[in-house]
Order: sequence, then structure tokens, then C-alpha cells
Amino acid sequence: MSEIRARRLVCLTGFMGSGKSTTARLLASQLGCPNIDLDRRITEAAGLSIPEIFARKGEAEFRRLETTQLARIVAEASESQRPRIVSLGGGTIAQPQNLALLRENGATLIWLRCSIEELLRRCAQITDRPLFRDEPSFRRLYEERLPTYELADYHVDSRTEPARVVEQIIALGIFPGVVV
Ligand code: S3P
Repeated sequence: MSEIRARRLVCLTGFMGSGKSTTARLLASQLGCPNIDLDRRITEAAGLSIPEIFARKGEAEFRRLETTQLARIVAEASESQRPRIVSLGGGTIAQPQNLALLRENGATLIWLRCSIEELLRRCAQITDRPLFRDEPSFRRLYEERLPTYELADYHVDSRTEPARVVEQIIALGIFPGVVV
């Protein structure tokens, strides 16, 4: 697989609050390539917000929608040679079939790593995350997910502001022709 092919899908992963959507948006605009937000695709397809999907249909249905939309994104990317920057949901790669789909299609996974204290601080104010119920369950889920995030190809420190996170991603040297 050529370098360009291998970078058609660059996916940001990480726990809730790690800054995936903001970082992906900034990175894509800096690189001049399309940005796709998986959570946004899910809400558009369902015609419901994420909390509404969880409340009315349950997490299992949310995960089904997530896998369907991820498969669409992967299919779209296979028709283009331009890299796409995708922000995944915090639980996307914790579903083995999603991780397998991304791997099979040569996606590059970047983990926005952040301490649990900082994630708690960021998420405490936000009410649109159905899986942020209380601190103990948030910590438990984080611990459960860590081994999956560690499978990402690249790990980037996201305790800092998004512009600095973008700099670190560009400094990885994975975008041909883009210099730091
Ligand atoms: C989830 C994270 C959310 C969203 C949904 C489930 C998770 O995305 O996909 O609430 O399982 O961690 P963010 O990580 O963008 O908040």
C-alpha cells in the first residue's frame, strides 16, 4: 500500500473531552482537506441528538448507527485519493468490528491522550454526553478503554490547547509535503 493510500483516512480517537472534534477541524483546515465528524454524521442520519438517541433508542442502537456511519465514511474515502480527517466518538474503536474495519482499510489512528483529571474537568460542565454519568463510572470507562486507545498508531498529548495538538500531529511527518 502506498504512503498516499495509507493516509486516505486519518482518524482521531480518544476519550470524551480529549478534543477530537476541535482538533480534527483545525487540522483539516490547516491541511486543506475534508473533515468528517462521526458523531455529527450519526445525529444527522438519526435526526436526533446523541442524548436523544441514547434515551429513546438505547446504547445498542447508537452503536449500530455508529458502525453504519463509520462504514459510509470508509467507503467514501475509498473513492478519493485525498486524505480525510475523521473525528471518531470516544467509544468507536472500543467496538472490535469498527477497529477491524478501520484497520482493513488502512486508516491511520491517532490517539489524543489526556489525563483523567483534565478530562473530568473538561466534561464536568457538559451535559450532552450520556456516558458521563458520574465520576466513578467515568474513571472506570476510561480505564477500560485505555488498552484500546493504546493500539493507535500515534499517541499525541492533548492536555494542551488544540492548536498545539495540531502542531504535534503535523510534526509526526505523516502528511507528505507538509512541513512543520
Ligand atoms: C461516546 C462518546 C461520544 C459519543 C457518544 C458515546 C463514548 O463522543 O460518541 O456519547 O462511548 O465514549 P465524544 O467522545 O466525541 O464525546
